[in-house]
Amino acid sequence: MADSFDLVVIGAGPGGYECAIKSAQLGLSVAVVEKRDRLGGTCLNVGCIPSKALLHASELFHEASASFPGMGIEVGTPKLNLGQMLSFKDEAVDGNTKGVEFLFKKNKIEWVKGEGRIEAKGKVKVGDRVLEAKNIVIATGSDVARLPGIEIDEKTIVSSTGALTLEKVPGKLLVIGGGVIGLELGSVWSRLGAEVTVVEFLDNILPGMDGEVVKNFTRILKKQGFAFKLGAKVSKVEKQKSGLKVSVEPAKGGDAETLDADVVLVSIGRTAYTQGLGLDKLGVKTDKRGRVEIDAGFKTNVDGIYAIGDCVAGPMLAHKAMEEGVALAEQLAGHYGAVNYDVIPGVVYTSPEVASVGKTEEQLKEAGIDYNAGKFPFTANGRAKANKTTEGFVKILADKKTDRILGIHIIGVGAGEMIAQAVTAMEFSSSSEDIARMCIAHPTMSEAIKEAALAVTGLPIHM
Ligand code: FAD
Ligand code: NAI
Repeated sequence: MADSFDLVVIGAGPGGYECAIKSAQLGLSVAVVEKRDRLGGTCLNVGCIPSKALLHASELFHEASASFPGMGIEVGTPKLNLGQMLSFKDEAVDGNTKGVEFLFKKNKIEWVKGEGRIEAKGKVKVGDRVLEAKNIVIATGSDVARLPGIEIDEKTIVSSTGALTLEKVPGKLLVIGGGVIGLELGSVWSRLGAEVTVVEFLDNILPGMDGEVVKNFTRILKKQGFAFKLGAKVSKVEKQKSGLKVSVEPAKGGDAETLDADVVLVSIGRTAYTQGLGLDKLGVKTDKRGRVEIDAGFKTNVDGIYAIGDCVAGPMLAHKAMEEGVALAEQLAGHYGAVNYDVIPGVVYTSPEVASVGKTEEQLKEAGIDYNAGKFPFTANGRAKANKTTEGFVKILADKKTDRILGIHIIGVGAGEMIAQAVTAMEFSSSSEDIARMCIAHPTMSEAIKEAALAVTGLPIHM
């Protein structure tokens, strides 16, 4: 086994593994240090993949009683086999993590198992072994943000990790934090029968999303049975003989109320994870939130050390980490590589899904950019009517003068797939007219994008 490499990547999440594969494809010798017993990082092991498997299975479970009878499909009352549903999720994790292992072998990337520590420039220590590297990439990701005084035991007070493995459906699930994790995993357990209450510190869920989208999505979730305590915070969780007592206070101060819960999910964000890497000793700069500071080329302040993904600034998304990994690999191999941070989509995989890319109306107003907005509801879309999936809309924001698309926001079944079209359009600097003149297959939910584009400067056909 060689101990000298062109590149040593620490962390085999989406950022690290894509950086490693692309670098190897471009001819570099690569080792990846990963301490978990499987490759794929947070995303494949306890994040994107298992949560989507559970979202898929729980949605079908719900549909079997909510929609099947109306379509003439009589299967009786569906019965939950939670153990089997969790195995279905575990198989998804297994398949995906093994897939990365296969790709490592195919590209002759060595997986060095264990915790990596940067001993000095060009040296990574893993157990007794010291790897020499021309360049080192820190791709160590993020960890769950904790709430002081509320200890996560992953049984009744859980993070997203524990919420993916609950042994039974909680009667009452209290979610702290109305962000992406709270709403996705809240949806899973709500569909399986839990009463879900979300306590959100701010006055709205999904901070940073387009305001109109948030308003409509909140209404949809309430219809699905979600209860929201907005502008509120949890000050205490007490374990009882059976269940939990949760103290909830107004965020701005005032009297606390007590709520009962069987399980509390703490989902108030994630923090960069760089423990044990030896950054202080090396003098690698981090910001106030513990994220590794990098320049436009992902380089830290120490030569030969780079950082990407959740442990640096920017949205904590797998595809953002992946793009950074690939761009960095291209640069290290002497090519051109860059990430267009203006066009990074975000998807909430609830039902319906919420997907967006580019600027929100609030951001455009704040920046003083004049824009036209075109909106089209799925109630007027043929396919949505046929499938009885009419909730939601597409909204396109385009520059008032140039008509260049600045943002696209969708609530609707399949929004997570549809947003790829929006990304394509924005990457090619499309105008709304470009989209309005495209021929889109009928009947598809995607026709709503064309109709919204028609609505930017004129009238949609079907409204
Ligand atoms: P990570 O995936 O966190 O990987 C870092 C790896 O580094 C880990 O495996 C860790 O063990 C390893 N490591 C750390 N320190 C060391 C060390 N010193 N030595 C060796 N190894 C080390 N994003 C999406 O885009 N879409 C989604 O649908 C989505 N769903 C999510 C659902 C949940 C429940 C969660 C928690 C997250 C979700 N995310 C999603 C976010 C996504 O998982 C992260 O943005 C992504 O994993 C970040 O990739 P990364 O490579 O930066 O780090
Ligand atoms: P988040 O940042 O999305 O949401 C956290 C929410 O908690 C915010 O609304 C915040 O205002 C609220 N909050 C913070 N402190 C609070 C407190 N003390 N009391 C009540 N509310 C409080 O974080 P989340 O949901 O934990 O997800 C972490 C990361 O994982 C996100 O950055 C997200 O990008 C990523 N992720 C992405 C997914 C996707 O792309 N579909 C799915 C799941 C996670």
